[in-house]
Amino acid sequence: MTKSFRVTLLPGDGIGPEIMTVAVAVLKQVGEQHNIQFDFTEALLGGAAIDATGSPLPAETLSTCQASDAVLLASIGGYKWDDLPREKRPETGLLGLRSGLKLFANLRPATILPQLLSASSLKPEIVEGVDIMVVRELTGGIYFGTPKGIFETEDGQRGVSTMVYHSSEIDRIGKVAFETARKRKGQLCSVDKANVLDVSQLWRDRITALSTHYPDVELSHLYVDNAAMQLVRAPKQFDTIVTGNLFGDILSDAAAMLTGSIGMLPSASLGESGPGVFEPVHGSAPDIAGQDKANPLAQVLSAAMMLRYGLDQPKAADQIEQAVLTVLDQGYRTGDIMSEGMKAVGCREMGEALKQALRPK
Ligand code: IPM
Ligand code: MG
Repeated sequence: MTKSFRVTLLPGDGIGPEIMTVAVAVLKQVGEQHNIQFDFTEALLGGAAIDATGSPLPAETLSTCQASDAVLLASIGGYKWDDLPREKRPETGLLGLRSGLKLFANLRPATILPQLLSASSLKPEIVEGVDIMVVRELTGGIYFGTPKGIFETEDGQRGVSTMVYHSSEIDRIGKVAFETARKRKGQLCSVDKANVLDVSQLWRDRITALSTHYPDVELSHLYVDNAAMQLVRAPKQFDTIVTGNLFGDILSDAAAMLTGSIGMLPSASLGESGPGVFEPVHGSAPDIAGQDKANPLAQVLSAAMMLRYGLDQPKAADQIEQAVLTVLDQGYRTGDIMSEGMKAVGCREMGEALKQALRPK
């Protein structure tokens, strides 16, 4: 029997449309082989939406996403929109989408592929075998806390952002993290700044309390500055990391780069129910947009995460992940992961190689 899924595509800005084209071609091909039919609807987000409608998250985009089974997002933002007031910036559209769909849990895996060991800026013996899952809280913390803004005062302007976590927000992301760790190596490291911030002390207390329900998971705590240092010093000590929105933003970029290129890493943003959003960790790379230079693999792996975590189609997800390994084994490399002796290709050719790798033998 053919299964059918409604998928909203948000190609966004910069390299977004190019890498999305590759991911959609891959999904269609895998769909045919697994009797999955995708009903794709494209919608506007970020700079593309600002140019067309004046808003970075048009109401129609949010309702289209809400009515779908999953959302595949590429990337948003670019120099062109950087000087707009905050409410009109592409990033505000992305944050609105996350909070509009209540996607409080962001899973960002950083796995070292043996094929790309030499692409890492760290020594191979340090990064070989690294397999980390960063579980980042996504709809709270300093990104959304109030008061916020730039205020005029008698002695100059005052900029304010507020880091807030309610115990219920910590508990729900904590549960996702403990359950994620349980399916992995059973080690969870919670990252905070409890030596300075009260909000972090509450974070630590709640995560510690939760741990009594997960006796099979080994819990540790690190301050965020130490965690950043440990990530580049000895990344193999980490299995699953749970942290708040801002620290997760920073640490997930650092963890991503251990793998050699941020152009390889997908992510999944999930809520209690409803559609998830699947997107690469990298941004819109406006400097190389439209030049067929982008690495589409993070986008393709995000499509695989969509199949696995959003649509419950693990076999199709496995097949895509396998195809990515195959093209790397065959030596295909975009500029960001290029090394000596490999075949330099552009975004489109990488897509062709993937389609070839997906064909039944
Ligand atoms: C990310 C990005 C976003 C974030 C920006 C674009 C708003 O850096 O997804 O990590 O800070 O969450
Ligand atoms: Mg980021």
